[in-house]
Amino acid sequence: MEDKKIIVSGMRPTGKLHLGHYLGVIKNWVELQNQFDSYFFIADWHALTTKYNQTENMIQNVRDVALDWLCCGVDPNKATIYLQSLVPQTAQLHIYLSMITPQNWVERDPTLKDLAKIMKDKQENMSNLSYGLFGYPVLMTADILTFNADFVPVGIDQVAHVELSRDIARRFNNIYKTDYFTEPQPKLTQIPLLKGLDGNKMGKSFNNDIKISDTAEITEKKIKTGVTDRNRIRRDDKGNPSNCEVIFDYWKIFGSEEEIKTVCDGCQNATMGCAECKKRLADKMNSTLAPIREKRIALENNLEVDEIIHEGSKRAQIKAQEVLDGAIEVIKMYK
Ligand code: TRP
Ligand code: SF4
Repeated sequence: MEDKKIIVSGMRPTGKLHLGHYLGVIKNWVELQNQFDSYFFIADWHALTTKYNQTENMIQNVRDVALDWLCCGVDPNKATIYLQSLVPQTAQLHIYLSMITPQNWVERDPTLKDLAKIMKDKQENMSNLSYGLFGYPVLMTADILTFNADFVPVGIDQVAHVELSRDIARRFNNIYKTDYFTEPQPKLTQIPLLKGLDGNKMGKSFNNDIKISDTAEITEKKIKTGVTDRNRIRRDDKGNPSNCEVIFDYWKIFGSEEEIKTVCDGCQNATMGCAECKKRLADKMNSTLAPIREKRIALENNLEVDEIIHEGSKRAQIKAQEVLDGAIEVIKMYK
């Protein structure tokens, strides 16, 4: 364990996750947990930065995210799975980091700038933007430095944040004349971007997603709504798979080479209609996802998810306390 490089990554508790999360993030974690000392956490404080007044489903959302990770193969015996708010050392470290972070570094954060602009354009009340939200990149830095992580697996949209974390780690080291914090590096994942059923980015709020936990029936129903080659109007029109934005895209992800070829032929020669193509795709996806979905139901029924979250959080606390103690020493606080 000791000589393994450390990675940290988190996800907000948005509720049941979709296939975009699975293929883009979780599958990658399942690989990484074999190579790295891995910390994967549910970022419930981050959720509060914008949704502080929508907490009714917080507890269920946390459980759902954990269940989705577990059924997809994130393994609590290999990785440390924890809940951010159950590791208060992160909050303590956040205080120290917030003292040394120049305000204009935080203001430069592209996500926050965008958010502020959207709010202004929509003429929303600026007091909806909380102090905590502006501290969000510093909190994210605390998440990462709490474990003195070497790498942070993230998508391209989060790279700017990890860069800021590097800057803050370096500044800490300069100010306190130390090399205590590792400058974390983003570890970009080549995400096979999964489109939503309507051709836009897959997202919960767009109502165009397929959940990991959807039943086979729901999956089939949703696939029926998927965008196909818009020029193939009648059953005997010949189709062009490369213009079939969504359904053929899914085939490329879920089908074997052989199956993809069969679909191409059937589509181009009009020997297979879109309805049949979709039915086959749904069957294929459902059989691929069946073991994951079965495992999820089993986990849900044996109620051990809370135990797993608490166990992991306890383990995370131990490492976090070590790192925090060291930082407090370096800063020369009274102990
Ligand atoms: N900011 C990330 C998101 O919104 C979640 C996150 C919070 C995170 N802290 C992190 C990711 C630390 C990686 C490392 O998706
Ligand atoms: Fe798309 Fe399949 Fe229809 Fe061709 S047959 S347009 S690949 S859904």
